[in-house]
Amino acid sequence: MVTIGLEPLGKTIRVRKGSPLKDALHEYGVEFPCGGKGTCGKCRVRLLRGAINTDDFHRKRLAELGLGGEWRLACLSLCHTDMVIGVDQYETLIQADETPFEFVPRKGLGVAVDLGTTTLVAQLLDLQQGRILAMEKGLNPQQKFGSDLISRLEAALSGNAPEMTGIIRKKIGEMIGRMTAGRKEDPERIILVGNTVMQHFFCGFDLKPLSFYPFESPLLGAARFLPVELGWDLLSREVVFYPSIGSFVGSDILAGIQATGICEGEEYSLLIDLGTNGEIVLGNRSRLLCASTAAGPAFEGARISMGMLATTGAISSLESGPAGWNIKVIGNGSPRGICGSGLIDAVAVLLGRGLLDEYGQLVGAGEQVTLAGPVVLTQKDIQEFQLAKAAIATGVEILMKKLSIGPGDIATVHIAGAFGSYLNMDSVTATGMLGFTPVAFRKLGNTALMGAKMFLFSDLSLTDAILERTSHVNLESDPSFQDLFVENMRFRPGP
Ligand code: FES
Repeated sequence: MVTIGLEPLGKTIRVRKGSPLKDALHEYGVEFPCGGKGTCGKCRVRLLRGAINTDDFHRKRLAELGLGGEWRLACLSLCHTDMVIGVDQYETLIQADETPFEFVPRKGLGVAVDLGTTTLVAQLLDLQQGRILAMEKGLNPQQKFGSDLISRLEAALSGNAPEMTGIIRKKIGEMIGRMTAGRKEDPERIILVGNTVMQHFFCGFDLKPLSFYPFESPLLGAARFLPVELGWDLLSREVVFYPSIGSFVGSDILAGIQATGICEGEEYSLLIDLGTNGEIVLGNRSRLLCASTAAGPAFEGARISMGMLATTGAISSLESGPAGWNIKVIGNGSPRGICGSGLIDAVAVLLGRGLLDEYGQLVGAGEQVTLAGPVVLTQKDIQEFQLAKAAIATGVEILMKKLSIGPGDIATVHIAGAFGSYLNMDSVTATGMLGFTPVAFRKLGNTALMGAKMFLFSDLSLTDAILERTSHVNLESDPSFQDLFVENMRFRPGP
């Protein structure tokens, strides 16, 4: 074993000699957006003491990224000696949920788990009183295989699938173990929700159908396990991964439909989750249409030069001030990047100041704009944003068309997800991401976790009733998709 000191955390960890540094660091908020290819540089750490040997490839990558001799890329490093490294360690802000809801009491304890691509949240509930007894949060340990679903699928198809299933089951088992330690009884029921890819990983299903056209898996239904099958030392009666709606719309969205109640009202509502997949649901109690868009990565910082998750150090909001920009940084420290909400604000402000034209070209500002400290927004970042906002706008338009309704028919837009809670809705409409101003916006936070907790008080017949009314729409197969997408790349301010 070797010892690694992590500064400024003041933590010391012990790892097996020769093991990859990324295996140890993903737990500590270090992100691996390019999946360890050495191209993004975001896993950089500063070597303060000890040694990490570099090969030609590693040195070449460091030079290309302009990083000097004290830097290493964690994704290319092995732990051969004791060392101390400086990690820009910032605690990821993982959103839980404490929203009260109505329930019919049941006996015993239950656990709800939101298995996200980036984050994991689990809550232990007293099902008699509906009280939260304990909570655990963490990062998805699969992050070392890449931030986005495409990287994860690539890693799985390269032979890593069993390990990727194993580490996620182990991590969630540990989280539940910590919540239940010392209690007289184990949870009666454990319910997990997540996107379809996470469902396949957790359940150990074949990921090939989700990796190639037509991206259809036959295994979208609910999957039941006994704890022992997952390697968990619990006496729970059942562990259920709730059913997905479609290939890229999972049970996290099913839970969101339940949590928002959009399946119950007469009026039309829209649910947008700007997480990794950018899912949207539109409908009412009679019919619900859902789709996934390719919007997520930009809003999670993966393709933005100084993009990052909504963690400490991220510019989360930005507005025009008399002396330049007024910025808010998560954690109130120095800015070190920009997260999705800051990105949307920045584009809205640039548009408002006339520094960006309707085609997304920076006007008179060169190839990049400095926002604060080292944080810049480049012309390429703006193009990435345009792709993401066009994906959302086009998805909403196609779903409206299929339901034969217009913007004026949509009463409420529910914004789900951690990222959504930082959003300035004026900026959203100013960029044209939503081509209309709804009667009401509701920011709901982690609707996946909230819905999973509601599921603890019912059985699968509740979700069957939602699924019967819900259809998955493949946006790309709509004949108007290309034209609408190109049109939505332009900046047309909302009304
Ligand atoms: S350089 Fe991208 S993860 Fe290491």
